[in-house]
Amino acid sequence: MMRFTFFMIVIGLLGAPNAKAASSDVPLEDAQVDLGDKASLYRGAQTFMDSCATCHSAKMMRFGRIGEDLGLTEEQLAKLMPTELSKPGDVIETNMPGDYGEETFGVAPPDLTLTARAQGADWIYTYLISFYEDPDTPWGVNNAVFPLVGMPHVLASEQGLKQPVYETKGDEKELVGLESPERAGSMSEEDFEQKMRDLTAFMVYMAEPAALKRHQYGPYVLAFLFIFTLIMFLLKKEYWRDIKH
Ligand code: HEC
Repeated sequence: MMRFTFFMIVIGLLGAPNAKAASSDVPLEDAQVDLGDKASLYRGAQTFMDSCATCHSAKMMRFGRIGEDLGLTEEQLAKLMPTELSKPGDVIETNMPGDYGEETFGVAPPDLTLTARAQGADWIYTYLISFYEDPDTPWGVNNAVFPLVGMPHVLASEQGLKQPVYETKGDEKELVGLESPERAGSMSEEDFEQKMRDLTAFMVYMAEPAALKRHQYGPYVLAFLFIFTLIMFLLKKEYWRDIKH
């Protein structure tokens, strides 16, 4: 019994980061994050600065750190920074005045530095591709993963606006899926999804920059362990050679 209880606690803890995701029944799509793909991370950083940093800050992320970690040239880094006066020591801030966010959206846009850690990559990716048309909300859009979200669909011109598929159960209509936009956006579905994967990857990196280093060291650590095992094996053979057993 003890063991079973322990087992359930471990399962519970493992499930905890997904607690929010479980609140909507939408199956999450695989974000396919590859932290080794620095070009993807850089593209994600550009999208973040162009389309997200107007409302969201990421106050624990310095530009200089992004430059170092992604191996950017000065020119590439300068392209990420909001103005010519920005310095590598600056963090990602929004220039939205204090209460404006809350007044406009009902909720202040949260800082996104650690969101990927709280929500998980698949949740963020699925959230970003799951806005759909809903005339009953203030912005005319809703989100399948985050029902009644206060964020407008800021990339609607690129994705288009997906159409909801409802099933009526008694008096209630339930969202059962999303269909391709009636009016397409400026990007193909494939390109848009790739762009959101890059953006998700950047957010995953931002939530834990050290993971990038771990990712880089990983192959070396494995190679070391392999060689070490081999040496130990040869040593063992050597030691036991003269011993009759
Ligand atoms: C026009 C302002 C605005 C822009 C631009 C914007 N957001 Fe938001 N976002 C919001 C608001 C407001 C919320 C809070 C919604 C709520 O809690 O109902 C939010 C919430 C979120 C959340 C949910 C966070 C959580 O854990 O609850 C994520 C993730 C997010 N935004 C990502 C993005 C990304 C990525 C971009 C860039 C493509 C972006 N946002 C652009 C206003 C914005």
